[in-house]
Amino acid sequence: MPEYSLTVNGSHRRVDVPADTPLLWVLRDELELTGTKYGCGSGQCGSCTVLLDGSVTLACVLPIENVGDRAVQTIEGLSDDRSHPVQRAWLEVDVPQCGWCQPGQIMTAAALLAQHPDPTDEQIDEWMSPVLCRCGTYNRCRKAIHVAAQEGGR
Ligand code: FES
Ligand code: FES
Repeated sequence: MPEYSLTVNGSHRRVDVPADTPLLWVLRDELELTGTKYGCGSGQCGSCTVLLDGSVTLACVLPIENVGDRAVQTIEGLSDDRSHPVQRAWLEVDVPQCGWCQPGQIMTAAALLAQHPDPTDEQIDEWMSPVLCRCGTYNRCRKAIHVAAQEGGR
């Protein structure tokens, strides 16, 4: 099996997996980073969203062979102690319900705020719309993004 080296949350990691293994399963099964969730496995729900060089990426449809030297950031890499402004805002607003979609929501929000430190509702809806929430937490996500923005966002 080919060996791949990748940078995840600032650490260099090596994995031996088939070339077509989705990044999601490398993260969850090989590296035991289970914060990134499996929802649909076909690029439809956004629950597997991670950041590659800061850009939102669906880990379930990205083969490991295509990751290259881009830095991967998962929910575990936002902070060691839930102190990232988005995480703090999420706690303050009490956003999650069942929680399944939330890593995808939070990583997408972090990427949004990195590019738009004070986003409008329209920008929030545009950025967040790929991440589905069966519990309907959309309004609380939007509110928490505004809270994070007020606190300096990134
Ligand atoms: S699990 Fe990746 S988009 Fe649904
Ligand atoms: S909080 Fe349950 S799916 Fe979003």
